[in-house]
Amino acid sequence: MGEIRLFRADQLSDLVQELNSSFQADLGCILLIDRALQPKQIQVIEQNPGIICLATGHQAWKGIWPSYVMGYVDDPNDREQLLWALESAKRFLDLRHENQQLRFRFNVEGEKLDSLLRSALEFSEERDPLKLCDKVLSNIRRQLRAEGASLYLADPDKSELKFVHVQNEKVKVPFSSFTLPIDESSMAGACAFRKKVVHVPDVRKIPRTETFKFNDSFDKRVGYTTRSTLCIPLIKSKGDLVGVVQLINSKRDTTFTEEDIEIGRVLAAPIAASLETALLYQDIERLFEGFVKASVTAIESRDPATSGHSERVAEYTLNLAQSVTVSKEKEFEAIRFDDHSLKQMRYASLLHDFGKIGVPENILQKEKKLYPDELEAILMRARMVKLGHPDITKEIDFFIEQVLRHNEPTVVHKEAGDILKKFLDLKYSVLGEDFILLTEDEHQKLSLQKGSLTADDRSQIESHVEHTYRFLAQIPWTRELKRVPEVAYGHHEKLDGTGYPRKIKVPEIPFESQIMAIADIYDALTAPDRPYKKSVPVPRALEILKEDASRGKINSSLVELFIAQKAFELKD
Ligand SMILES: [Fe+2]
Ligand SMILES: [Fe+2]
Repeated sequence: MGEIRLFRADQLSDLVQELNSSFQADLGCILLIDRALQPKQIQVIEQNPGIICLATGHQAWKGIWPSYVMGYVDDPNDREQLLWALESAKRFLDLRHENQQLRFRFNVEGEKLDSLLRSALEFSEERDPLKLCDKVLSNIRRQLRAEGASLYLADPDKSELKFVHVQNEKVKVPFSSFTLPIDESSMAGACAFRKKVVHVPDVRKIPRTETFKFNDSFDKRVGYTTRSTLCIPLIKSKGDLVGVVQLINSKRDTTFTEEDIEIGRVLAAPIAASLETALLYQDIERLFEGFVKASVTAIESRDPATSGHSERVAEYTLNLAQSVTVSKEKEFEAIRFDDHSLKQMRYASLLHDFGKIGVPENILQKEKKLYPDELEAILMRARMVKLGHPDITKEIDFFIEQVLRHNEPTVVHKEAGDILKKFLDLKYSVLGEDFILLTEDEHQKLSLQKGSLTADDRSQIESHVEHTYRFLAQIPWTRELKRVPEVAYGHHEKLDGTGYPRKIKVPEIPFESQIMAIADIYDALTAPDRPYKKSVPVPRALEILKEDASRGKINSSLVELFIAQKAFELKD
């Protein structure tokens, strides 16, 4: 990993010394400033083009960025942010260099150049590809004063351009995706094929020497008249094509000028770099989504009866979190979840039971009080005793009948223990071998008062929360998602400290976990029938939530909101 050296404003002379000495930082030396510099310091920066100056502390700047600021970093301790800002600053410097050349060639006024620099910064800050496409087209149309613009992204594998975004201030253009081959048959295709600007000052007077013709189907379809077009290739520093921007109808002159073309060329580099970064970021997000989906499939394949649980819990959790965000209730006034927090909750909910991967399958799928092999062992001994002692056939049949009956998790008899107790430790000799009808351990399991799980089974199942936490804590989450492990960790805790595994109480239980707990309980109750558990009707499930809330187990305000806003309704 390369090293980034950080210097504060009062260490400026050290930074200059470092740059002048033999030291070479792998990734760069950064001057980090949280307030405007003194004139003398500005002079030093201007005299040392190797200094990369990044601002920090958004509040102090109030949106006014001095010309020597090349980028912004919110948290300089976050390496990912720092690398991002460094990359942006390098683009900024490239652009400044190109601007200087432009200034020389066209004597363009300073305001315009500043505006170009700000554009590059604006592009580099946007990570959402769709929003970036919109920003790019608005910006380039403003700079080049064009009525309309289209953006195409290149697919080098298929050798085609994909139409991804359009703007036109004169007509409303219905968007429909299509592709163009990267060849000489269209203006945008030729621009991509040649990797050169294609300027057509008058689309009705295309020279005969050109390979493409003007396609007027768009004009006819939306009632528009295209006069001039300018296609600019978006090329990365290594020469790879990212896409094409096509501008339509200059508003200033009858056609686009040489200066427009130069500005377009200058803007193309930061647009290409920003688009590529945003698409890469999107790919990483998709990759991670794929990993989360695969993890969910892995959990649910362990226990097919709980299929869909994680997805449903995520949906109920987000429904409730969004209801909190828009709620006008006083207690929720200060709680507003942004997109990042919602994503954090979504991942935490999708993966909350991932730790079940560490719980033996036979426990997860246990339907009766005894495991099948345990039951089989009792029945086998009973049959042997019956064979050896035909005189007690009736008693043994009664014993078998009671074992089968008490093995059902739904059978809760106060006297369960007593009925079977008389068979406890009864020993019969058959063919010289002793057979015990019922052992102490078997009797205890069949005497369970509730459900099918013994204390040991239960503690193994409950251990899934610890497994989940350990697994999630190993993932290097980004800053926006770093609380995923903590949020998932609290999904079985109760407000009064009677939950598990840490038995923490309300102030320590993250609010997001309190939301998730309600979603989790609701789904466990209403999930489709399982072999060992009937589905609870919705009104009864809501009653149970209210009862839990009134006993101080789960957040009552959240339960009220869950019911009032029908957060338990799924979209499909
Ligand atoms: Fe769980
Ligand atoms: Fe769960």
